[in-house]
Amino acid sequence: MRDMRESILADNFLALYHERRHYLGQEDVDNPPVPPKVGKERRPLSMGDYTVHLSEGGFASIKQISSGEIMHSHTPPMEEAKSLYVDQSHLAERLQLKPGQTPDEVAELVIWDVGLGAAANAMAAIQCYEKEAAQGPIRRMRIVSFENNLDSLRLALTHKNKFPYLRHSGPDAILARGAWASKQFPGLSWELVEGDFWTQAPRVQSKPHFVFYDFFSHKTDAEGWHWSSFRRLFDLLQSSHSVELFTYSASTAVRASLLAAGFRVAAGVGTGVKKDTTVAVIAKGKIPTYYAWLDAAWLAKWERSQAKFPESLPESERTEFERAVRGGVGRDVTP
Ligand SMILES: C[S@@+](CC[C@H](N)C(=O)[O-])C[C@H]1O[C@@H](n2cnc3c(N)ncnc32)[C@H](O)[C@@H]1O
Repeated sequence: MRDMRESILADNFLALYHERRHYLGQEDVDNPPVPPKVGKERRPLSMGDYTVHLSEGGFASIKQISSGEIMHSHTPPMEEAKSLYVDQSHLAERLQLKPGQTPDEVAELVIWDVGLGAAANAMAAIQCYEKEAAQGPIRRMRIVSFENNLDSLRLALTHKNKFPYLRHSGPDAILARGAWASKQFPGLSWELVEGDFWTQAPRVQSKPHFVFYDFFSHKTDAEGWHWSSFRRLFDLLQSSHSVELFTYSASTAVRASLLAAGFRVAAGVGTGVKKDTTVAVIAKGKIPTYYAWLDAAWLAKWERSQAKFPESLPESERTEFERAVRGGVGRDVTP
């Protein structure tokens, strides 16, 4: 180093450079360079009963440690949220106003997001709204999310690099204040109802048009899929308008219980590794014609099913359950 400085002052650095350049580019073998630890994860990957799960496909999801269940396990969370809930409900289309209508003249579209989790379903609906609203006036929309354990959202929010759909002002506001309203699109709002869904839902004034029904499976969350819960849900959802419920389960037992509770039931779209999903409807007035209603073939499958009746259904209620299931299949959905 001193040689170099002196050669520069003596104005003969070029000669020194030509003499020594063969080793100038060599590394200091005694003190090899250590690359900086770029992106080393320092934030905890777990919180309470939840952990960040990295799939072989390279995407992140939230996993419940106690049950091992992964939210949106087969595809990136937003992909399933979009196909199963947002696209299947034709949300973009249902937000459109008729020619001459203004947003204030039309009732806001209400979505119950049952099981907020890491907010993939809610954010998929919000992204859909923002895309449509950017093109012109649309119907107002309110999302009501239900959740009894906010750790999964808290955890995902500390890893936005792995959950990029959370890079938005909504989820942080929902966690901090339990409510969010879009500044850019005044017709869009989101609120959180914290606590047990079955206790809280009867207190909620805004009855839904759509329900994104996304509890963990019956092995983890038996109450969510119990036949008696669907009866409560059917009563809870009654209003002056139709309700369309979307869920990932395509189980024969779940569909039978929904039918017995009074819903009209259709096979929903397949998504990821799921061949199909389920749509359950309470029809008041006109209902879209695009649903694949359960038919005689499904009824025959139910007849052959090992678990034709829910285990806990009292013997005395079986006849009524069967009558409701049979009556529900093939029933005209337009009253
Ligand atoms: C499968 S995860 C939901 C995933 C979420 N929809 C998403 O898009 O990320 C199910 C969620 O339902 C919540 N949950 C389960 N039982 C509940 C109840 N009785 N009331 C409210 N939330 C409940 C769980 O805490 C969990 O966060």
